[in-house]
Amino acid sequence: MEKVFIVGAGLMGSGIAQACAQSGIEAILSDVSQEVIDRGLERIAWSVGKFVDKGKLNEPKETILSRIKSCPGFSMAVEADLAIEAVFENLDVKLDVFRKLDEACGSDALLASNTSAIPITELGGVTRRPEKVIGLHFFSPVPMMQAVEVVRGVGTSEESMLKGVAFVRKLGKEPVRVESDMAGFLLNRINLVSYVEAIGLVAQGMGTMEDIDKGVRLAFGRKMGPFETGDMVGLDVSLGALTAIYEDSKDMRFYPPVLLRRKVKAGQLGRKTGRGWYEYNDDGTKKGA
Ligand SMILES: NC(=O)c1ccc[n+]([C@@H]2O[C@H](COP(=O)([O-])OP(=O)(O)OC[C@H]3O[C@@H](n4cnc5c(N)ncnc54)[C@H](O)[C@@H]3O)[C@@H](O)[C@H]2O)c1
Repeated sequence: MEKVFIVGAGLMGSGIAQACAQSGIEAILSDVSQEVIDRGLERIAWSVGKFVDKGKLNEPKETILSRIKSCPGFSMAVEADLAIEAVFENLDVKLDVFRKLDEACGSDALLASNTSAIPITELGGVTRRPEKVIGLHFFSPVPMMQAVEVVRGVGTSEESMLKGVAFVRKLGKEPVRVESDMAGFLLNRINLVSYVEAIGLVAQGMGTMEDIDKGVRLAFGRKMGPFETGDMVGLDVSLGALTAIYEDSKDMRFYPPVLLRRKVKAGQLGRKTGRGWYEYNDDGTKKGA
């Protein structure tokens, strides 16, 4: 994979472009407008600067950033060996993007989705190349997180899975193969069950968010507890993932808790809105921390 076309310059798409550029891979970042792309590019420049300041990269910031080109729409997709979709978690939006990618990309190009819960098979189904459609499920923040799920749709070939695995390794990350196209894949299913349980325990008055987050950090060696992670990911994103897994499986363990649904209705979406489970200052730090 020499050149990667990324659709969606939001949190995940810009993180994926950065991970590519830091690994010597050229990235083309696309979104609905240059203005949105520019916001993504600013985020990337800030983050690469932090890595360079900490001495974690061997190249100057400018060299890394020069590997990222950008253009709204799909006109540059033809140059890519791999296209990664990272647009809103909405089936119709993603199906439209996959139809356009299938038209715009070369016939050998692999198409991937960063979806958290939408079936890869459904996305592959609107293309003429379902065997070349995989899931590449990155975790946030992409430049820091080492695991990437490589997901097989019903029509995905083993050759495409192996290309996905090789790409993840080229990024310096570790692939986790998911052999069956079940909503939530492997890691989100495990994580979301404990998120639902944590919300239920707080709703029942069994403990506080603060204590649960602290306990999970200290007892299980995690960097963040479930509410801290929930605020970083976005309460709307988790609600979308839970809803999709529940719809797919009808498994009550994934039924979205009422407290989560109400908070999303109230616009308390986490760090990005300044308030979710916790409240945040303008610079993203937790209030009272
Ligand atoms: N946020 C997370 O922690 C996380 C983790 C893993 C996977 N994901 C998945 O990654 C995807 C993107 O999530 P995000 O958090 O980056 O969202 P985001 O809202 O930050 O970014 C989405 C971007 O997609 C763009 N977009 C929407 N429709 C488009 C279209 N038709 N063409 C081009 N661009 C379009 C938007 O303008 C926006 O910039 C979702 O499927 C989400 O489920 C998110």
